[in-house]
Amino acid sequence: MKTNVVLCLSMCVYLIGALDEREPIPEENNILTLTKNNFKRALQQHDRLLVHFYAPLSSQSLGTILEFRKAASALKDAESAVRLGGVDVNKEKQLAASLNVTSVPSLLLYLSGDKHNPVYCPVLKSSSSILTWLKRRDGPSADIISNFTHLETFMDEDELVVLGLFKDLEGEIVKVFYEVAIDVADLPFGVTGSLEIFSKYDISTDTVLLIRKHKPDEQFEMEKSTKEDLVEFIRQHEMKLVTEYNGMTASKILNSVVQNHLLLFINKADEGFKDINRTFETTAEKFRGKVLFVMVDVNETRNGRIMEYFRVRVEDAPVVRMVNLSDNVQFQLASDQLDKHSLSEFCLNYLEGKAKPKLQSEPIPENWDKQPVKELVGMNFEKVAFNYDKNVIILFYAPWSRESRVLFPLWEELAQHFSDNEDIVVAEIDVTANDINIHLGEKYPSIKLFPALYAERVVPYSGKRKLKDIVKFMEKEIKKAKRDRAEEEELRKQYINHHKAAEKEEL
Ligand SMILES: *[C@@H]1O[C@H](CO)[C@@H](O)[C@H](O)[C@H]1NC(C)=O
Ligand SMILES: *[C@@H]1O[C@H](CO)[C@@H](O)[C@H](O)[C@H]1NC(C)=O
Ligand SMILES: *[C@@H]1O[C@H](CO)[C@@H](O)[C@H](O)[C@H]1NC(C)=O
Ligand SMILES: *[C@@H]1O[C@H](CO)[C@@H](O)[C@H](O)[C@H]1NC(C)=O
Ligand SMILES: *[C@@H]1O[C@H](CO)[C@@H](O)[C@H](O)[C@H]1NC(C)=O
Repeated sequence: MKTNVVLCLSMCVYLIGALDEREPIPEENNILTLTKNNFKRALQQHDRLLVHFYAPLSSQSLGTILEFRKAASALKDAESAVRLGGVDVNKEKQLAASLNVTSVPSLLLYLSGDKHNPVYCPVLKSSSSILTWLKRRDGPSADIISNFTHLETFMDEDELVVLGLFKDLEGEIVKVFYEVAIDVADLPFGVTGSLEIFSKYDISTDTVLLIRKHKPDEQFEMEKSTKEDLVEFIRQHEMKLVTEYNGMTASKILNSVVQNHLLLFINKADEGFKDINRTFETTAEKFRGKVLFVMVDVNETRNGRIMEYFRVRVEDAPVVRMVNLSDNVQFQLASDQLDKHSLSEFCLNYLEGKAKPKLQSEPIPENWDKQPVKELVGMNFEKVAFNYDKNVIILFYAPWSRESRVLFPLWEELAQHFSDNEDIVVAEIDVTANDINIHLGEKYPSIKLFPALYAERVVPYSGKRKLKDIVKFMEKEIKKAKRDRAEEEELRKQYINHHKAAEKEEL
């Protein structure tokens, strides 16, 4: 009997395996859905397989997922030999681990079925860069420019172009330039050995020029530089010292390798604009490569969304905000301090980790504590919620959410219910307008109890949204806090007594 079961199991596994061999690998949006079970097969079937490792819910992956789809459809249209595949690392942890993929998003190009030596593709932010990367790997990665006419058309390709000037176009150092051209697939690359072009730019050694709007902007002497040096130079200098935020520049700004952005929100029509703008630019020079300086005109209706995101109102301008794109934490400098010295200090402090994150708050409403339901904002939140003497129940709401609004009558009812109880505070806070220093999770509305006696305790409520149930929950938790505190006190006493006794013995 036992052997039969084993036999059947192995037969079944075998049969499933065989079925698997013939079944096509599932795909979505022209991208193969790769799993532990089909990865090897995909490698066998596709000589060139570019695989996107992603985590579907991570904000970093989100952009690349969409661009990868666009690239897949473009490659299909072009009947390219390159096949794209995706690995959802949350579902395929084992596969990602076995392939030594440690960060997401990652792009790896597997060649000739070899799973051990993939080519790392930099995480490119647009589908066209992915296509350019693939193309530059196969062909010459930079245009060879031999005369002025050609140089002009090359410079027309983009606002910023990269031109390598090399004495010997077959030399070793040019190879470094070509390699960089492959990976920096979002910029046009040209290379020249023309002595006329050398003398046009007054250059005599092997040099890389960044040319902005037909004018040489920055130059980099190659000498013994490595690929990494040159990539870093380009990435740090590709943006202007100060970039104005608009539809054209937004994606460049958000995709910049520089993760710290200093945003100046200002009304360009204001008299003070020119001076502040100049100050901003001079400061920008000092922090090139470390902080990206961005200007946002508040007198431009199309900037409404970014202002909403940073919670800047037209009347707040001029104001600067520092934001760390890696964790989206914001910092603010007081508005009366937009001089060169303060701006520099602010950037330095921030880079050294000494600046305090900005906590957003609405002004404290007048009579905020006169109504049955107390209205909290960022500024008074901690003082009320973490009050040692009060049991505080708080509704965290978003004004636009219907689900939040239906709870308002219940909250009034709850406040009435406890109106005679001095120890209980019923409060609410608009979380879209106020930042608070506790983790709330993603869902609104949410309800949390901050019991007395425990400044640090936060108990989320997940029961029915009915008066009776919430009251019951509160009574239970308040009792529990008292009991826990009493027990702790007892332990503390014992500990002290024990400690004293031990001290005595030692004496
Ligand atoms: C992953 O790394 C380990 C240890 O370096 C190595 O033995 C293994 O072959 C690697 N896996 C792949 C798919 O390259
Ligand atoms: C300039 O270079 C381009 C491309 O290499 C070539 O097609 C063209 O004929 C050249 N023009 C002159 C005037 O030499
Ligand atoms: C503001 O500064 C930027 C960066 O220097 C400059 O490009 C721009 O022309 C200035 N704007 C005005 C209106 O002066
Ligand atoms: C906004 O800009 C327009 C045109 O540049 C100008 O006429 C207007 O006065 C500005 N508004 C404010 C509030 O400065
Ligand atoms: C920005 O955020 C990242 C991720 O949290 C952190 O590692 C980095 O130190 C931050 N940068 C600064 C200058 O605070």
